[in-house]
Amino acid sequence: PHARLTLDPDFTVGPVPRRLFGSFAEHMGRCVYTGIFEPDHPTADADGLRQDVLELTREVGPTVVRYPGGNFVSGYDWEDGVGPRDARPRRLDRAWRTIETNQFGLDEFATWAEKVGTEVMMAVNLGTRGMQEACDLLEYANHASGTRLSDLRRSHGRQDPYGFRLWCLGNEMDGPWQTGHKTAHEYGRLAAETARAMRTVDPSIELVACGSSSRAMPTFGEWERVVLEHTYDDVDFISAHAYYEEKDPAAGEGEGTYGDFLASAKDMDAFIEEVVATADAVRARGRHTKRIGISFDEWNVWYQTRWQSSDRANARTAWDVAPRVIEDEYSVTDAVVVGTLLNSLLRHGDRVAVGCQAQLVNVIGLLRSEEGGPAWKQTIAHPFEQMRRRATGEILDVRTTGDQVSTQRFDDVDLVDAAATWDAGARLGDSGEGVLTLFLANRSQDEAADVEVPLRAFSGELRVADAQVLAAGEGQDRHTANTLEAPDAVGLRPLREVSVADGAARATLPPLSWAVVQLA
Ligand code: AHR
Repeated sequence: PHARLTLDPDFTVGPVPRRLFGSFAEHMGRCVYTGIFEPDHPTADADGLRQDVLELTREVGPTVVRYPGGNFVSGYDWEDGVGPRDARPRRLDRAWRTIETNQFGLDEFATWAEKVGTEVMMAVNLGTRGMQEACDLLEYANHASGTRLSDLRRSHGRQDPYGFRLWCLGNEMDGPWQTGHKTAHEYGRLAAETARAMRTVDPSIELVACGSSSRAMPTFGEWERVVLEHTYDDVDFISAHAYYEEKDPAAGEGEGTYGDFLASAKDMDAFIEEVVATADAVRARGRHTKRIGISFDEWNVWYQTRWQSSDRANARTAWDVAPRVIEDEYSVTDAVVVGTLLNSLLRHGDRVAVGCQAQLVNVIGLLRSEEGGPAWKQTIAHPFEQMRRRATGEILDVRTTGDQVSTQRFDDVDLVDAAATWDAGARLGDSGEGVLTLFLANRSQDEAADVEVPLRAFSGELRVADAQVLAAGEGQDRHTANTLEAPDAVGLRPLREVSVADGAARATLPPLSWAVVQLA
């Protein structure tokens, strides 16, 4: 198999949006409790924050983290989670049928985010609550002082306002499972009114209206149209959520093959392009001038079908505190798919302004942690971390030609999935100015793929500065994962088959692999 990438530093999509590399921490399962917060853990600091998880989070480096939900937020009273811990109520969390102890709340999350060095993306409850509570929360978080709620924050030990910029107007309100689920008209009106009220409290905020919780929702498209008709002038972004999984038709898990799973980024590409088209149609009809961006604030691989048919899911009536919920263990295959999903987001960086991989720890997590025990990176953390670190400067418009692979759901797809950035002012080591970074995935399950990138459009001499690959190693296969017993089984290793000669870069990608190649 062979692929040829055509790139030119003059043909760009736009600057890399730094918020593209975000994550998500929901009060769900063990993401917060025994994930980022565990006061009795040997590494816990005075705030009860696990230092091992904090350190791994810093390394992986999500640029923004969405909080506190998710489905959880649609029944959450934020006031329960602030103030003296011994006075905080234990509540039923109806979304996940667990007990919420409220020992962790807004102030703890803000402290954690400051220690990580990441931006907070806050969500308000538009399920059981409304405009007043959203404005109260904003006043508590962002108003300086001299009012009941800003002074309440100060009495809790935080003098300066947090200044959270990015706010979600509810979560997945299109989903019948959502507490307080609404029609597009009902939600659109509420979101518009809430947005206007919130902006009077703090005009500097950026607001995300709920889009569709999946491209497969029966209301997809119409939901976006109606919600944006109501909210166009009042919001900055519309959200999109997508989860992908490999299904096993033999086990009755429904349609979809392994090849379809590897081609999941085709669905994400189409999803983004369809939301953009819908938003732009509303723009034209309404004679608006600004453009709405996309906040892809939940995305990942999630073995949802398996979880829904599991005993664990059926036994969700236990009302436990922080039970194990959807702790998917990610394989080599999943890391390759996540690499292609990141490519899709990057390719659309002119319109996707925010991306939040869901979720950060344990719950479909980049990271895993054990109560009282260690923490480690899942396979999917590697492409995430590498793209977060290395995608800088301008996104290039990549044209890929070459071999394709046929799938059931998407017809033919490129065997090599690619995205690229060009940072004209950057240097690597003692290189000259200009760094070209290629993010590549080989979807072939059993064959290596040769990639050729003509460099004639780039002035100066580019050389291979670094090349890393993630693939099954010796004695491993596509199912190999990082586990408690072998936390570093799958990682990056140098990609040796890369060269520059005769005006072109060439790389050979092992079967089923993800790679990053930097030329400088
Ligand atoms: O991330 C897990 C859940 O998936 C979130 O709570 C919800 O928003 C989505 O359906």
